[in-house]
Order: sequence, then C-alpha cells, then structure tokens
Amino acid sequence: KNIAIIMGGYSSEYDISIKSGNVVHKFLDNSKFNAYRIIISKEKWVYVDLENNESPIDKSDFSVTVEGKKIRFDCVFNAIHGTPGEDGLIQAYFELLGLPHTSCNHYQSALTFNKRDLLSSLKPYGIPCAQSYYVNAGDHIDERAIIDKVGLPCFVKANRAGSSYGISKVYKQEDLTAAIANAFTEDDEVIIESFLDGTEVSVGVITYQNEIKVLPITEIVSENDFFDYEAKYLGQSQEITPAMITKPQEKAVTDLAEFIYRTLRLKGYTRSEFIFMDDTPYLLEVNTTPGLTEESILPQQAAAAGIDLKTLFSSAIEEALR
Ligand code: DAL
Ligand code: MG
Repeated sequence: KNIAIIMGGYSSEYDISIKSGNVVHKFLDNSKFNAYRIIISKEKWVYVDLENNESPIDKSDFSVTVEGKKIRFDCVFNAIHGTPGEDGLIQAYFELLGLPHTSCNHYQSALTFNKRDLLSSLKPYGIPCAQSYYVNAGDHIDERAIIDKVGLPCFVKANRAGSSYGISKVYKQEDLTAAIANAFTEDDEVIIESFLDGTEVSVGVITYQNEIKVLPITEIVSENDFFDYEAKYLGQSQEITPAMITKPQEKAVTDLAEFIYRTLRLKGYTRSEFIFMDDTPYLLEVNTTPGLTEESILPQQAAAAGIDLKTLFSSAIEEALR
C-alpha cells in the first residue's frame, strides 16, 4: 500500500508537524507500507524523497508523478497539527476525493478544533469546564465584563490553535487587552477562561486493533507558570505516566475521556486535557492530531501501554482502510 504522510500545514505548528511526520515516516512498517513524505505548506504541496528532491502534488487527485510514473495513494496518514490538518479542511478534500485518511472526519475535526464549539456541544451532557468568555476580532473588549465572568487569574487563548501558541495567563485587568491582542495573532476568535487551580492530566484515547482504548494517563507538572510552549517542547515540564492520581480520579477521567470519544464519534488518535478540581475532571480541550514527536505525550502513553510506534501507526492506517 502507498501511504502519504502529510505534514507541515499553514499554522505556527508547522515545525512540530514536520517532526511528527518524520517520526511516523521513521517508524512506519516498511514491510507493509510504502511511505511518502508530503509537505503541505501555504507555498507548496510536494512529495519530498530521501534526498530531499521535491515533486509537486497534483491537487486534482492528490497524486504525484515521479520520473514519468504516476503514484496514487491508498491512504493518507495525517500528521498536520492546526489548519488545514486538524480543523477538517484537508479531511473534507480527501473525503471528496474518496481517499481514506487517518484521524477524525472533516466535521469531527472542525468541531473539536474550535474550543468554543467543542465545549458548547458537550455542555448538554453536563461535562464540567471552566467559565468562559468569547471575543471575535473587531468586537469591543469589555475588560470589566470579562473579569466579572471569569475572574483573575484567567487564561486567554486562541480559539483555534495548538501547542499553546497565543496563550497567556493574565493576573491583572490591565494586562488583559494585550493578552487578547496576542491571541488574535493566531486566530480571529479568542476564548478567555477562568483559571482552574488543580492537577492537569492528559488522556490519550485511540482506536487500536478495532477497539476504543484509553492509554495510561499522563500528569503534567510544568516548571513554568503553566504548560506553555517551552514547557511542552523545551523540556521545562515533567510528564509523569502513569499519573499520580487516586483510583477514583483515574476512573472518573478515563470514563469521561472515553465518553467524549464515543459521543462525538471520534476516530484515530486523540488526546484530551483535563484539570482536576477535587475529584472532578474539568475538560480543557480535545486534540485530534496530537503530537507524535519524540517529546510528545501520546507516544509516551502508547509505550507505557506496551504499544510500540510501528504497531501504533499501522493500527491507525488499518482503521482508516476499514
Ligand atoms: N497540538 C499539539 C501538537 C498536541 O496537541 O500535541
Ligand atoms: Mg491543543
């Protein structure tokens, strides 16, 4: 089977996605699959061979012609974080072409990538989440109304972004407008949430060998003020798998993460973030193309479950082809 590993993307997470894609390329089982690295960027869509020669992708059918020979793909392995790989845009294109791909479908991706819409869609199920306030680009910013609703400190986030790009923790009302302006550099929608002062955990839920499986839970202990970009990628955090939480906490968050996966009918790999307030997990977000770099959490969780990367990646392709 020919597998197109797509990586890069149009967002700030480009470099992280290239790393994730290269890890997939390195570990994909080459006795079963012919893997092709495809970079999708704003400038170009290209197949990149082992000598870094580039060949353009024909967008009419997502094929590539190399030395006069047209190569078609049987499946796409999606390693793009952020737009267009995590927000449903490229999924819609592959679905129109009838080309199977790993990760969620276009609708599930669009819904989960939009923090406001994700949290709103889960509200009727009684899933706890932080108090929140939303602003769109161009809206009048009423600092007092925001603080009255979410309190201080609070988190200001781009509504549709990943890897903590655009996020700030705000302690004083006078810093709020600058934090919102910073989040607007990543997205034209911003979410402001109350600060939840508790233990943060990350829960991987995947479909593995035809069944939904919750991976061992990771506890995040950030050496920075919160789990920001540096904490995520420059080693300034401890990620402890399995998390040092109580049995009732483990059960509560496992059940909740699996409930969300089933309820939203998610596919492939997901990694959801929660903060415990006493024994209740509060949902922060769901990532549907979680990082697969050497530093990333989901590969650590898979290893803790005894699943090596080769088997993990093959399982996603088998699920997509089913
Ligand atoms: N957005 C990053 C890649 C993650 O969720 O792991
Ligand atoms: Mg995220």
